[in-house]
Amino acid sequence: MNTSADAAELRAALRTVAEPGTLLEAEADTAPFLLDQRRQYQGRALAVALPRSVAEVSRLLAWCNARHVGVVPQGGNTGYCGGATPDESGRQLVIGLQRLNRIRAIDAADYAMTIEAGCLLAQAQRAAAEAGRFFPLELGSAGSCQIGGNLATNAGGLNVLRFGMARDLALGIEAVLPDGRVIQHLRSLRKDNTGYDLRGLLIGSEGTLGIITAATLKLWPQLRSTATALAAVPNAAAAVSLLARLRTLAAERLNSYELLPRAALDLVIRHIEAVADPLGARHDWYVLCELSSFAIEPLDALLEQILGDAMAAGEVLDAALAPSERARTNLWRLRENVPEAQRRAGPSLKHDISVPVARLPEFIAQAAAWVQEQVPEGTLIAYGHAGDGNLHFNISFLRGTAAALVAAQEPLIRRAIHDLVAAHGGSFSAEHGIGRLKVGELERYASSAEMATMREIKRALDPNGIMNPGKVLAAG
Ligand code: FAD
Ligand code: MLT
Ligand code: ZN
Repeated sequence: MNTSADAAELRAALRTVAEPGTLLEAEADTAPFLLDQRRQYQGRALAVALPRSVAEVSRLLAWCNARHVGVVPQGGNTGYCGGATPDESGRQLVIGLQRLNRIRAIDAADYAMTIEAGCLLAQAQRAAAEAGRFFPLELGSAGSCQIGGNLATNAGGLNVLRFGMARDLALGIEAVLPDGRVIQHLRSLRKDNTGYDLRGLLIGSEGTLGIITAATLKLWPQLRSTATALAAVPNAAAAVSLLARLRTLAAERLNSYELLPRAALDLVIRHIEAVADPLGARHDWYVLCELSSFAIEPLDALLEQILGDAMAAGEVLDAALAPSERARTNLWRLRENVPEAQRRAGPSLKHDISVPVARLPEFIAQAAAWVQEQVPEGTLIAYGHAGDGNLHFNISFLRGTAAALVAAQEPLIRRAIHDLVAAHGGSFSAEHGIGRLKVGELERYASSAEMATMREIKRALDPNGIMNPGKVLAAG
């Protein structure tokens, strides 16, 4: 049984291990680290540590391991699954990575950079650009999430179609294991078949196997041409046909393909300043698509031609190409502000799902019919990275709807949607991870062989179970 006396003793001992200034203990200082971004989980903690070096991370972990103190790594705290929030015991140590934020090296000739986990994603993108290179990870949270968090969650985002997810962008990794040992594999090699892929294992492990302290990331040449359009399509099936057309005719130049229902556009226009619908008439569905090239190419003409042909074939009803960088930014504001508009509109239930692209229309039709019948007071906002088969299948409720009412319906809605996803051969967590929120879902949908293997990996790397207890896998 943990007592507050234990906690006080632990805190006193911790002060002797941490560097001066590393520990935050006052309530006002720790509060931002104890509440998750969606305000679903309010934790307590022994303290929050903000180490300045890998050696200090190592010392803190070894100390926690010896005393069986739970550790919760935290990046920018923008995650959606409560993975970065400590439990309610007040006995876990939050380790924030924000002070480990150096760009260690950029090798433009090698198309690689080595940066520390606490670098903001936007900082990483800027550093690459300053070296004349391009780092393609792009999320709406780029200004606040950290590279370490992106890797720990294997983040996806807006450019996955062409460049892949965070795991695909990392060449090497540096991580501290629960007992304090440091794995340093920061090579920029494109070919390196030397044993088990520890990099791949640590990426996506959501802080349950170790703390990522740095990574070597792939870079590309800077993009020199871009063409972006918002196209109205008659239905989801037309969106899938248009995707196939773009993949055939624009090939690898297609980097983003995002689906937006009218309800999402309406939310953004109502709740976000200075955004406008560039098309005159209202339509049920839209696609925001972008082509890009490392060469100087007439991509506007190519996109116009493809959309024109699609219009003649009935796949597109209307389209607006962005004639300038400013217009392009405005189109992206419509898409990137959907989560914020949803937040301002009232409570919502989120489902981060994926199905094989060709099955999107059937899935959307069946799931939307279920929502309409069973949750008539909710508005379905099913939008997202349709090019990857990934939808944020969210249900918004009017502001003022009692949170308890929404929470009471959540289990039934989640079960119906996730079961339908499974029936379509899909995933109940496409890009946001498991965290604390989806531990039960993983148990339900993963096979017993997969669950047993994951538990064995966890036991082998973290025998005392100190790393992010209760996240991804149930504690114990
Ligand atoms: P945190 O939230 O701090 O942590 C997330 C998890 O990683 C936790 O389990 C934590 O313990 C662990 N962790 C963090 N840092 C480390 C580390 N250094 N070592 C080990 N474990 C660590 N996500 C997408 O995938 N695609 C999107 O398009 C997308 N869009 C978003 C848009 C908005 C507006 C917002 C608010 C969020 C969005 N997200 C998206 C979710 C979120 O930004 C990502 O999951 C992001 O990768 C989390 O990074 P973070 O630094 O905030 O991590
Ligand atoms: C997005 O793509 O906008 C996010 O991953 C989903 C969200 O913020 O709800
Ligand atoms: Zn997303």
